[in-house]
Amino acid sequence: MTDSRPTALQLCPFSPYLEAGLADRFDLVRWFELTDADQRTWLSGGAGSVRAVATGGHIGCPSPLMEALPNLWIVAINGVGFDKVDLDLAKKRGVRVTTTPGALTDDVADLAVGLIISLLRAIPAADAHVRRGAWPSAERPLGRKVTGQRFGIVGLGHIGSAIAVRLAAFGPVAYTATSPKAVDYPFHADVHALAEMSDVLVVACAANAATRHLINAQVLERLGPESYVVNVARGSVLDEVALIAALEEGRIAGAALDVFEDEPNVPEALRASDRVVVTPHIASATVQTRVAMADRVLANLDAFLAGTPLPSAVA
Ligand code: 8YV
Repeated sequence: MTDSRPTALQLCPFSPYLEAGLADRFDLVRWFELTDADQRTWLSGGAGSVRAVATGGHIGCPSPLMEALPNLWIVAINGVGFDKVDLDLAKKRGVRVTTTPGALTDDVADLAVGLIISLLRAIPAADAHVRRGAWPSAERPLGRKVTGQRFGIVGLGHIGSAIAVRLAAFGPVAYTATSPKAVDYPFHADVHALAEMSDVLVVACAANAATRHLINAQVLERLGPESYVVNVARGSVLDEVALIAALEEGRIAGAALDVFEDEPNVPEALRASDRVVVTPHIASATVQTRVAMADRVLANLDAFLAGTPLPSAVA
């Protein structure tokens, strides 16, 4: 049976709520479930029918795929990061790109605070200690007090600002960004200077060519052996090889990471380290936020289908 609705490719799994909303509107192809060979075969017959791509911020839309879809009109990202979509290519091809701004700000900021407390108080290790029955025979080493730490935030957009508000309850906050903002926190134009005066450096900036490996060996060196780095932005912002070396050589105290350079692959050195807390890119993964994100994805797609202005386009 031929489906007369426009075709959309779904590039990664979504919540049942978003998947149902997409299936209501489109002839939906679960692209991520096809093998490379099946994708090539599908494209040879179906490429021209695809008007929409629905994807995650962590996946984006590979340029070869965008180029293979002659009638693609919109890439709807279920997230705020658009670093995995070539916006210049999209503009050149007349493809619109939308994101879900605002929906996940609180969750990412909440997770950043959770990671900081988990890291400094070693909550995952303490939990494992109790679960394996070690409490009766051994005390856990002392943790590090969170209240009173000096926090440096890299990137003071919506998410960085929400993190700052929360961390200001614990200790002094300073930040770096592309330009100073109208806030009371001290601004450091140079990330090295920010690292030097921070006990906890929290990475919350957008990923782009300018921020790739912004947090490198030199920045970690300035952070120092008593300090920590936390990343809730993108893996590309933090040089993982430099981080592993700094951890192994005791040049920083620890790290908490929700994002990685090659997701879902996390280097063994990070997984094995007791000075590292790792989570699988869950910053926006709450029931409420995923519904709010889905509603924004669907609002953009509905506007596309109705030919009205897109609520949250980045290209
Ligand atoms: C999501 C994200 O994990 O917003 C982003 O850019 O990376 C995350 O919120 C992902 O996009 C969910 O699809």
